[in-house]
Amino acid sequence: MRILGVSGSLREASTNTRLLVAAKQLAPSEVKMHVTSCVGRLPLFTPDAQTSGVPAVDEWVEEVRSADGIVISTPEYAGGYPGALKNAFDWLVGTDAYIDKPFMLLKASPRSILAQDTFAKVLETMSGVHIESASVTIPLLGTTLDVPDIIENREFAEAIREAILQFASDVKRRGI
Ligand SMILES: Cc1cc2nc3c(=O)[nH]c(=O)nc-3n(C[C@H](O)[C@H](O)[C@H](O)COP(=O)(O)O)c2cc1C
Repeated sequence: MRILGVSGSLREASTNTRLLVAAKQLAPSEVKMHVTSCVGRLPLFTPDAQTSGVPAVDEWVEEVRSADGIVISTPEYAGGYPGALKNAFDWLVGTDAYIDKPFMLLKASPRSILAQDTFAKVLETMSGVHIESASVTIPLLGTTLDVPDIIENREFAEAIREAILQFASDVKRRGI
């Protein structure tokens, strides 16, 4: 099973990106998780643009197309989701890459709710299937915990592993 991790933060020391990298390392061996680096390299979307011809767009579309499920971890900016994250998914609308894909939400900030709720609605509009039972919050906001620290924290590691397992079994049940 292939899972694609997508961070809504382009920040170098992003807690959401660290959470996804930790999830990749904690995922069971049958789950191959890749954390995309495309989001910050995509041009601004316009429907005038062709999806092919821009290498970062082609790479992003292929990453999504080949994934069985998507794990998103995003910060909240001014009561919504980051524009960069929405930009990335706007590039998929005219393609067949994101049809009926299951997704789950991780988050690193307990304060953030609106970004997750509103982005879930965006993905559902795009035919995404929200696996809500797998969603989990790992409170990394305000900490300097790096990936090895997250993995060594038994409570965090168990919660992340459990969330990915739950997601993977739901994706499997839906018939990959
Ligand atoms: C421009 C900006 C706007 C923000 N707005 C909100 C907000 O509306 N609600 C909230 O809970 N946090 C807000 N925050 C805090 C971020 O959500 C928090 O810094 C985030 O969890 C950090 O994620 P990262 O470490 O992955 O970059 C904002 C941060 C920035 C930089």
